[in-house]
This record gives sequence, C-alpha cells and structure tokens, in this order.
Amino acid sequence: MPNHNSTDRRAQIGGTHARSAHLRTMSDNHKYAYLVGTRPNFIKMAPVVDAMRALRPFAEHLLIHTGQHYDDSMSRVFFEELNLPRPDFFLEVGSGSHAFQTAAALTRIESALIETHADVLVIPGDVNSTLAGALAATKVGVSVIHLESGLRSRDRSMPEEINRIVADQVADLCLVHSWSAVENLAAEGIEGDRVRMVGNTMIDSLVRHLPSAERSQIADHLGVEKGHYLLVTLHRPSLVESQDLALVVAVLEDLAEDIPVIFPVHPRTREALDRREIGGRLTLTPPLPYLDFLSLEAHARAVVTDSGGVQEETTFLRVPCLTLRDNTERPVTVTSGTNQIIGSGPDGLRDIWARLESVQRPEEQPEGWDGMAGPRAAAAIVEFNEAFSDTR
Ligand code: UD1
Ligand code: UDP
Repeated sequence: MPNHNSTDRRAQIGGTHARSAHLRTMSDNHKYAYLVGTRPNFIKMAPVVDAMRALRPFAEHLLIHTGQHYDDSMSRVFFEELNLPRPDFFLEVGSGSHAFQTAAALTRIESALIETHADVLVIPGDVNSTLAGALAATKVGVSVIHLESGLRSRDRSMPEEINRIVADQVADLCLVHSWSAVENLAAEGIEGDRVRMVGNTMIDSLVRHLPSAERSQIADHLGVEKGHYLLVTLHRPSLVESQDLALVVAVLEDLAEDIPVIFPVHPRTREALDRREIGGRLTLTPPLPYLDFLSLEAHARAVVTDSGGVQEETTFLRVPCLTLRDNTERPVTVTSGTNQIIGSGPDGLRDIWARLESVQRPEEQPEGWDGMAGPRAAAAIVEFNEAFSDTR
C-alpha cells in the first residue's frame, strides 16, 4: 500500500517543481503528444498543455483531436475559451457504436503517432478516445501517460469503467487527482514510480477562468436571479436512454413551479427529449460554452447531474450537488460534503429541499485541487520522459 502520511504526500505532490530550467538541451528534441476528443478532455488537458509548453518551450508539443465530439458547442467553443492551440491532427472520428468509434480512433491515432515519432502520448479521463489512445500508443512503443488515472466506480456496465481499467493497465505513468485513486491503483498492482499524485487539472481550468465567467451575462439572458435556480446536466446512457429519463424530467417539471430549472442539454439527451416530447416546463438550452456554464454553476441554488466533472467543480465551488447515479468514481466529492449520490431514478429528487438542508460546505478543498495541478503534471511528465529517454 502507498504511504499516506502527510509528509510523504507533500513530497510526492510537490516534489518536482525545481526542474523547470529553460536551457536548450538534448531533451528539446522530444515530442510530446496530447490526446483530446470530448468536452471534458479539453478542460482537463488545457492546463497540462500550457504547463508543458512553459516547462519545455523548445520541445515539440502536438495536439491530437479525435473528433469524438465535433459540434461547435461541444468542441470549437472550448478551444477558443480555453485558449487551446489548434490541433495538429483532427481525426474526424465522430459518432458511432463503441466498437466503431474506438476502432476508428485507434487506427487514426496509430498513424499520427507513427508519422510524428512522438515519445509520449498523454491521454485524459475515461472516454472511448482515451481507450483508443492507450491501445494505439502502447502497441507502437509510445509511452502512455494517463491523466486522471485510478478512478473506479466498480460498475462495469459503465463504458468509462472499462476504458479506465484498460488505460491504467497499459499506462507507463499514472497521474492521479485524489488519494483514493492511488489506493485503487495499488489494489490492481499499479504502484511505486508508475503513480504520481498531481491533483486535479479540471480545477486549474476553473480557477483560471472563474474571473472571466463572473462577467458572463447568461443569468440575465435566461432571466434568472443568482442563487435562485437549479442547474441540471444529464447525459449518461444508463439514464437518458432508459424509462427513468421521463420520470426524472417529470419531477424536475414539478420543481420548476417553485424555482427556475435550467437544463443545458447534451446532444445525446437532446435526441431522447425530442423523441418523447418531454421537458416543456424547463429552461432548456443547447450545450453551453464553458464560461457561461461555470457562471451558472457557481451561482446555482443546487446542481442536479450525472456528470463526473460537474461533481468535482461543484465541490470546489461549494455548491450543493445531487448526483443522479447509483455510485461515483469520485468519492472525495461526497466526503467533502457538497455531493450526494441520490440514485439514478426520480425518487431521490422528490425530497430535494430536505436533502439540501443537510449539505455541508467545508472550508478545505481536496488536496491538489488548488489550480496548480497542471504544472505538477507537467513536471512529472517531463521527469518521466527524460529519465526514460536516457535508456532509449
Ligand atoms: C462521451 C463519453 C462520456 C463523457 C461524455 C462527455 C464515451 C463512451 N462516453 O459520452 O464518458 O462523459 O462524452 O460529454 O466515450 N453527438 C452530437 N454532437 C457531438 C457529439 C455527440 O450530436 O459533437 C451525439 C451523437 O448522436 C452521438 C451522441 O451524441 O451518438 C453520443 O456521443 P458520444 O461521444 O458517443 O458519447 P457521449 O454521450 O457524448
Ligand atoms: N460543461 C460546459 N457546458 C455545459 C455542460 C458542461 O462547459 O453545457 C462543462 C463543465 O463545466 C465540466 C465539463 O463540461 O467542466 C463536464 O463535461 P461532461 O459533463 O460532458 O462530461 P463528464 O465530466 O461527465 O465526463
């Protein structure tokens, strides 16, 4: 088991900052590739790309976008708001079954890695693009670095759980954002130098962009008062493609008689709502740009969601979050006090006001959720790659 006494934690979490000298060296010939494909990937990866470019300005940094998400509202807007560089490769994978999407991404990522002779591929999170990146890179001898490694819901009916397990098994370096992830990896035999606790890069994006988000006019535009609306996001197939969706929406419509309910609708969910012609009393919007969404999230009375990232952001923002799932791979959001797991059906929403009474808003943030995870991740990536390249 990893040693979790606080001195060791600090040594591991902060230990590599000093290696940021900007001298031109052999290491400047290194090629770092970063994979993104979906909305949450852009938000998690932006701080890592920024920090890597600052730490190794003369090395080559390549961004590969699989195109798993491709609508402007799910992709382009995040590149603009997060100031992500234009992708060097846009693989146009698009939508399809799991096998189709993963296979298309796998073959196209492989070609990009072979063409560029990348040394490492950094893969974020748990989406199909992540799985494809893990398999493509490891088979062509490119080091795999998994960002947000070690999360486990212990629910193998979730596609994300399979993607995470495979990505972690093949990863040469696992970058984790909370201590429970270190324990999960150790239980699967992944430990020692292969695991680095760097903190949460999604929170880096939040910290950096919250001041701009505070200037958003979205609340006025939607005609709601700060602190007096519920914000909803739903996109897990287990919910939105089941009978539960109509039942959950019916409860939200009842709640909308007392408080505005704003529901930015994910494309998967849009199709399901349109098919059943439900949701008429809710304030439905297209997927929102990041800054508008952050602004609404920061000032919501509460958030109702099945999103992974939203559970984390509400923890940092100390906004009550009711998670419409039976489990979470992010237990720190629950132990921190703001997040409650209320089950994937409508029942947990019926006593929402009583639940909100019991929400805790602790002062302390989870360790490493401090806006500096990107630089720590970059230090760990560079240290790994430069040590490894000595043996290449
Ligand atoms: C994916 C991830 C999920 C993540 C979510 C973030 C997998 C298995 N799932 O789910 O873990 O939480 O992204 O949002 O990788 N669509 C569009 N336009 C787009 C993208 C999608 O219309 O730009 C529609 C298509 O009909 C598509 C459906 O949404 O079939 C689902 O998209 P997909 O990327 O397959 O899965 P998500 O539900 O977005
Ligand atoms: N988000 C956004 N606009 C929206 C909904 C969500 O910018 O309309 C952001 C949100 O702030 C968070 C991320 O998208 O950073 C979460 O992504 P999503 O819920 O799609 O995926 P998950 O985190 O569940 O994998």
